[in-house]
Amino acid sequence: MSRQRRKVIYLLGFMGSGKSTVGQLLADALGWPFIDLDTLIEAGQGYTIRQIFENSGEPFFRQIERAALAEASKAEPAVIALGGGTYAQPPNVLLIREAGGATVWLDCPPELLRARCEGLQNRPLFRDEQSFMQLLMERLPYYRLADFRISTEGRNPQEVVEQILSLRVF
Ligand code: S3P
Repeated sequence: MSRQRRKVIYLLGFMGSGKSTVGQLLADALGWPFIDLDTLIEAGQGYTIRQIFENSGEPFFRQIERAALAEASKAEPAVIALGGGTYAQPPNVLLIREAGGATVWLDCPPELLRARCEGLQNRPLFRDEQSFMQLLMERLPYYRLADFRISTEGRNPQEVVEQILSLRVF
């Protein structure tokens, strides 16, 4: 008999897909703790994500992101919102698979992602239209590895939560 899946839901998707908003609402609905990986990193470092990128560069950010992911993955039950690049790092995909739990990709149309990212100050990897599309294309193959895909198109965050709850993943 297969072991029951851990009560952990990882939300993944590109910057601006709503991981943090949906994650908090989902955690509230389940009565589970919510962990936002970027917030955990900022709290641990005492710097904003933008400052970490500016002061120490992306490779350092990816290192501490992995350490934060390993730490967050010990929690159960938990809803964990990943950063946009977390699941596009193969060692992180492995780490999450080994930890167990369910991965849910919040799939959002590119034009909506772009519009949302343009208004955000704390997204160092959002530069221009071309680099945005390139980054998105590079990451889609990783996002497609998720256990579940939820289209957020035409759905508000609460409706996205209802879709996730209807998956009955556990
Ligand atoms: C990143 C996305 C950000 C944050 C960092 C790097 C990325 O998270 O982790 O700026 O590589 O796409 P959000 O997806 O929450 O914006």
